Amino acid sequence: MSDEDFEVPWYESPALNDVVGLMGARAMQGIMNTFSGNRIFGGKTGVTTVAIELGKRLDEGEKRLLIIADSFTKRFCEDVFPDFEDNGFEIKVWSGVEPEVPMYILDDGLQICNDFKPTVFLAVGGGSVLDAAKALWIVYEQPGINLMQIDILDNAVGLRRKVKALVAIPTTIGTGSEVTTAAIVTDTKRDPPKKISLTVDETLPDYVILDTKFVKTLPPFLIMATGLDALAHSLGAITSNWGSPLSDAINMVAIEEVLRYLPRLVKYGTKDEEALEHMQWAALLAGMGFNNAMPGIEHSLGHSFGAIMHVHHGLSVGMFCAQSVAWQAKVTEKWRKLGPLFGVREDKYSTRQEYLEAIVKAIQAFQRAMGGVASVKEITEPKITKADYQSKLEILARYSKEDAVTLTSYRPVGEINYRRMFEAAWDGEKLVY
Ligand SMILES: [Fe+2]
Repeated sequence: MSDEDFEVPWYESPALNDVVGLMGARAMQGIMNTFSGNRIFGGKTGVTTVAIELGKRLDEGEKRLLIIADSFTKRFCEDVFPDFEDNGFEIKVWSGVEPEVPMYILDDGLQICNDFKPTVFLAVGGGSVLDAAKALWIVYEQPGINLMQIDILDNAVGLRRKVKALVAIPTTIGTGSEVTTAAIVTDTKRDPPKKISLTVDETLPDYVILDTKFVKTLPPFLIMATGLDALAHSLGAITSNWGSPLSDAINMVAIEEVLRYLPRLVKYGTKDEEALEHMQWAALLAGMGFNNAMPGIEHSLGHSFGAIMHVHHGLSVGMFCAQSVAWQAKVTEKWRKLGPLFGVREDKYSTRQEYLEAIVKAIQAFQRAMGGVASVKEITEPKITKADYQSKLEILARYSKEDAVTLTSYRPVGEINYRRMFEAAWDGEKLVY
C-alpha cells in the first residue's frame, strides 16, 4: 500500500462535519436506512453445509480457500480442513492477524493473496480477525484504493470478482463483526495510533457459522469483555435512535439475552453449553442490531479510550454504556424501554430524571456484576493513575470527536462534551446528561 492510504479518513473532514451538523443525524438517517442480512448457520453442521455449498458453487479449477486467523485461532483450522478438502478445495492459512489490526499487517496478507489467488476467504477468530479479512478483501480486489476515502454512502467498491464469498466463524461472543459491514483497523502512523472505521456493504460475510466448539476455550476475561461489548452494541444502537422497527426488535432481544445468559456464563464458564449458545446468538443479534442502526457514542468514547489507555475494547465500551444512554436521553425516549429489561420499575420514580438515573445506575451495576467496570479508577488491567489520565483528557476527547460514530450521533456531540464525559468517567458517579 502506498503512503497515500494513510491520510485521514473521509469522516474526519471538517466540511462534512459542518454539513452534518447543520442537517442533523435525522436527515442522514433518511438517506441511509437499509437492512443488511446474511446466511447464518447455527449448530454442529455449519462447516459441512457451507463447504458442500461452496464446493458446488465454484468450478474445479477455482476452489482455493484462504483461512484467515491469528496465532491463537489458527488451532481451529483442523476443524475446517476436512470438509473443505473433501469438497475439492486447495487450502492456505494466513495466521498473521494482530490485535486491533495495525494496517501494515495487511501487506503480508496481500502478498499471500497475490501468490495463492484465493476464491474464498474463511475468517476464524474474534473481531480483529474478521475485520482484517474484510480490509484484506478490499485491498486485494481493489489494489489502488485509498482506504481512507471509502465513502459510507458509496456502498460498493467492486468486490466478489476474485473472492466469491467470505465465511465468518466468530470465536468470541461480542464483536458481531460476522454480521456487520464495518472493519475497524488501526492507523499506526498516527501518534498515538488511531482506530479507523471502514464501512463497505459488500464486505458483509456471505456465510456465518455459529458452533459452540469455536468458543469453548474462551477464557473468563474474554467472556466478560466480549459479552459486555455485545451489550454495548445494542444499548448504544437502541438509544442512538437510528434504524427501524426491525433493528429495534433485534436490539431488544439481544439486550434481554445478554442480561439473562451472560451472568450464567460468567459464573459457570463455557461448560454451561446452553448459556454459551445463547450468548453466541446474542452477540450476533447485537451485531446485526447495531449494523442496521448505528452504534452509540459509547463506541466513540471507547475506541479512543481503548487505544490511548490500552484497555480492552469490550471493557472500554461497557464502561461508557451508561454515559451513552444518559447523553442521548435528552433527544429520545427510547431509553424508557430499558427499564423493564434491567428490572427498574418506572412507577417507583416520581420524575423522568429519577427514572433515567435509576436505569443508568442499573447499567453500571450490571457492568460491575459481570466483572467489568463503571469508572476509570476501577480498572486494574492496566492500572491507570489519575494524573496520567488527566494528562490525556485532551487527546482522548479529540480522538472521540474524530471517530466515525460522532458523525451519526443523534444528539450532536463536540470535543468539549467528550472532555466532560471523560472527566466524569474517572469515578463514574455523576455523568453528563
Ligand atoms: Fe464494539
